[in-house]
Amino acid sequence: MAYPYQIRSLEEYQQQYQQSVMDPEGFWANVADHFYWRRKWDKVLEWNFKEPDVKWFVGGKLNITENCLDRHLGTLGNTPAIIWEPNDPEERHRVITYRDLYNKVCQFANVLKNNGVKKGDRVCIYMGMIPELAIAVLACARIGAVHSVVFGGFSAQSIADRIQDAQASLVITCDGAFRGNKDIPLKSVIDDALIACPSVKKVIVCTRTRTPVSMIKGRDLWWEDEIKQVETMGNPPCPAEEMDAEDMLFILYTSGSTGKPKGVVHTTAGYMVYANYTFVNTFQYQPGEVYFCTADVGWITGHSYIIYGPLSAGATTVMFEGVPTWPDAGRLWSITDKFRVNTLYTAPTAIRSLMGYGLGPVNHKDLSSLKKLGSVGEPINEEAWHWFKDNIGKGRCPIVDTWWQTETGGIMITPIAGITPEKPGYATLPLPGVQPILVDERGQEITGNNVNGNLCIKFPWPGMLRTTYGDHERCRTTYFATYDNLYFTGDGCLRDEDGYYRITGRVDDVLNVSGHRIGTAEVENAINMHAGVVESAVVGYPHDIKGQGIYAFVIAEKMVHDPELSKKDILQTVSRIIGPIAKPDKIQFVSGLPKTRSGKIMRRILRKIAEGEMENLGDTSTLLDPNVVDEIKKGKQ
Ligand code: WT7
Repeated sequence: MAYPYQIRSLEEYQQQYQQSVMDPEGFWANVADHFYWRRKWDKVLEWNFKEPDVKWFVGGKLNITENCLDRHLGTLGNTPAIIWEPNDPEERHRVITYRDLYNKVCQFANVLKNNGVKKGDRVCIYMGMIPELAIAVLACARIGAVHSVVFGGFSAQSIADRIQDAQASLVITCDGAFRGNKDIPLKSVIDDALIACPSVKKVIVCTRTRTPVSMIKGRDLWWEDEIKQVETMGNPPCPAEEMDAEDMLFILYTSGSTGKPKGVVHTTAGYMVYANYTFVNTFQYQPGEVYFCTADVGWITGHSYIIYGPLSAGATTVMFEGVPTWPDAGRLWSITDKFRVNTLYTAPTAIRSLMGYGLGPVNHKDLSSLKKLGSVGEPINEEAWHWFKDNIGKGRCPIVDTWWQTETGGIMITPIAGITPEKPGYATLPLPGVQPILVDERGQEITGNNVNGNLCIKFPWPGMLRTTYGDHERCRTTYFATYDNLYFTGDGCLRDEDGYYRITGRVDDVLNVSGHRIGTAEVENAINMHAGVVESAVVGYPHDIKGQGIYAFVIAEKMVHDPELSKKDILQTVSRIIGPIAKPDKIQFVSGLPKTRSGKIMRRILRKIAEGEMENLGDTSTLLDPNVVDEIKKGKQ
């Protein structure tokens, strides 16, 4: 059997789950035994949630790329590792076998070495969804450099913040990226970012769009030229750097309830074991299957379930450059048809947006290869769940609604495809190794079923974050200080009468817009940067397609003469400071915000107004000036 730790029945799930709770170390040691280690661990786990200090597979030595590439060469050398579908369906797709990928990763790893990158150095990657992105990520891992991938939709300012925080010494980018009918000038954005980033010594630019770029002498290098140099050297091999189990593998920035994104840190062995275990089990991957995850590698889903999970399992992973709605709303179904995709893993926001186009784009696509469907990123509403089930899965494919986070490294609560029960709108049951617990405001455990609470995890799992880069205290206060001895997820959760979990959404000031996490404080900071803005308050409201939309209440310095123009200016500012993904959907100018006498904004009231619930605003008597509420209600967008 390809994966001896793959769960094959409901009984096996129950057995594994029991074992993982009774003997977590024995359980994970059994899984970890099936990887390639340079040296096995001395101790499976050391931990406390106080500091926090969590170490898995202590003393173990390995390289994740030997597990994703080298160990498959004997058996899977000619098997497709990555099938790449370009943005433009007229352009030829690419099939990269495990042997090809191994060669390309080694080649580019040598490029990085030639440019002075060493173990532990941070490398920022800002690229579109092309195979070279996966190659760049793996090349960093090969030589022990820490990658920090930044999503192509972030602005120069956001990239600069991330590069400075990580003190990255090298950036890998492209001239541009194709996404739908757009052509995003990545290198030009990097040029703007680097004005404020003295730590960056080199920029490697991969050709994709042939957009004109300015190459700075002594700093900027073409990917293709650097590869030629390695070829001239006779393509020497690139032995993998021996990494400690707890050496840093990557940093990925994510928003929280404060203004500044934090660099979530994942380490080598635990992350690898967890990404692989959860991939193999959740999707019940079988050798030879074609697996397609529509996420972007700029987010954790792309890290764990386009690259590391599938490749460590020797799977064939489809990587798609474009967007689901271009050139038409049938693109995901065409790709499924073209490559005979067996598993399709996508986001509720994509499903909802495609639902809006009706069945035209689905008809005449052969979806008979599909066996399993997956959803991730936000709660999936029942309507979207059923549409996906009936029209894409034709009623015969299980849907796994996978709950997890950037910080968890991999899937935590989910059905196991075709093995454990599913229930629309529910992430259902924890995977083995995951011990969820619901607590009330004071941190008291809420036991029994049919209860609501804040979702925490009470025991470490191998894929969990270890720290937030450069600021361990922030990791402690954000995740481990709210409740004693628990990891706090920030999500609210229901456990129903059957013991199934249903995530009800964030309980902090974090929005989930189209499956992307955006902190309200970050958006407020960006709006407040705009000249003429005195203060702002940002809340979420239900949005048919995005899940949540962004609603901004803004106090302007002077009377606003042309609200439409001023709104456009504010949107432009937010785009510049964070990126287009953070642009408010609605802006309302107000003369004041509902504040308590101590000056705290009462967001509860603003949220209700944004949701259109004007009647039940609750107690407003503690407000400094209750009259502003009436004014805001009148001006609602
Ligand atoms: C937040 C994490 C996990 C990768 C993509 C997002 C929400 C995620 C689900 C789900 C309900 C979900 C949670 C979580 N979320 N998956 N299946 N059902 N909510 O990663 O940016 O780290 O966001 O996304 O609120 O805390 P992320």
